[in-house]
Amino acid sequence: MTVAPSIDIDRAQAETPGCQAVLHLNNAGAALQPRPVIDAVLAHLHRETEIGGYEAADEALARREQVYHSIARLLNAHRDEIALVDNATRAYDMAFHALPLRDGDVVLTTRSEYPSNVIAMLRAQHDRRITIRYLPNEPTGELSLEALERELGDPRVKLVSVSHVPTQSGLLQPAAEVGRLTRARGDVWYLLDACQTAGQLPLDVQNLGCDALAATGRKFLRGPRATGFLYVRHERLRELDPIPVDLHAATWTGPESYELRDDARRFETWEQHIAGLLGLGAAAEYALGWGLDAIWERVQALAARLRALLADTPRVTLRDPGVRRCGIVTFTVEGLAAAEVKAALAARPRRINVTTSTVNSARLDFAERGLDTVVRSSVHYYLTEQDLEEFAAAVRSLT
Ligand SMILES: Cc1ncc(COP(=O)(O)O)c(C=O)c1O
Repeated sequence: MTVAPSIDIDRAQAETPGCQAVLHLNNAGAALQPRPVIDAVLAHLHRETEIGGYEAADEALARREQVYHSIARLLNAHRDEIALVDNATRAYDMAFHALPLRDGDVVLTTRSEYPSNVIAMLRAQHDRRITIRYLPNEPTGELSLEALERELGDPRVKLVSVSHVPTQSGLLQPAAEVGRLTRARGDVWYLLDACQTAGQLPLDVQNLGCDALAATGRKFLRGPRATGFLYVRHERLRELDPIPVDLHAATWTGPESYELRDDARRFETWEQHIAGLLGLGAAAEYALGWGLDAIWERVQALAARLRALLADTPRVTLRDPGVRRCGIVTFTVEGLAAAEVKAALAARPRRINVTTSTVNSARLDFAERGLDTVVRSSVHYYLTEQDLEEFAAAVRSLT
């Protein structure tokens, strides 16, 4: 069987130095970086050592500006709607804490929301006395659109926050349908956490209908660690009052005054990891070069193949809910803790990388599904079918 042949796997592998040494199924943690990303980062670090940090930044000005274009292109947004930040959590928090939420306002979210997002909401519940409502799920695991529509009838609802794919499973939430429903209400904010979908599947903010979107560089986008970005829809930008702001996000205009920037860079800080951001831009261009449709097609096909192989493995139970599932494949092995599976796979002659998801990341979801910890494997387009067979054989050898 040839899985999604539109990607040139030989080239993808040749351009991924790490994939010889390791069998990397931790792309939902941090994917292996491709050569153009590594080159962009290293070249800038070299320039910093050769001519100085500020001077290298000046020299790279046009390339730095290009990063905004690249991320905007990835999302079908405008460059002024993009802020480059350290990670998805920072992106999410900058938008969330800037929202004009007040006593009595209601925030709707999913039962599989990323824990840091929930912690931000809990903080606002404490400080600003908002109410958090967790939407019920369909029996298949997605948030209930019917319940969302009903809840949106309540004028106190001010925000809908959705993790497109949660951290602990391959579930794909109906993000565009959520966008259509929230748009129909007009004034409600829709904040989409696309941390696990950026670089994995096509993201079009016009179609998704979100007002803000947070994502990270290091996961399926294959960028450097500690890079991320925030998109904020231009029409709504002025409704957001960021905390904190520095001299890059705002101008100190007088002893008693400052003026916020009127683009999304009001969410940035002056000091930035320039080498990392150039690497992020290279990662976006690299993904666009393959085409997000082609990447998504292959990721889905590889994930389906991996699920079929694992379904055939004794004592293994697949754990992903959802009608449509992504490249994250979670499972448990009877009689073995997830951490033991991870350690045993890492100890193989050709190291196999997976990670685990614990109940701390999935309080509601895991409680409802009777889970405590799962093994989280995650495929990407540069893996081969032989890689998946090697992986499944390694899991089988543990059982
Ligand atoms: C769904 C989701 N949202 C947000 C994050 C946080 O991303 P970051 O570590 O870049 O802040 C993660 C990280 O695993 C995630 O899985």
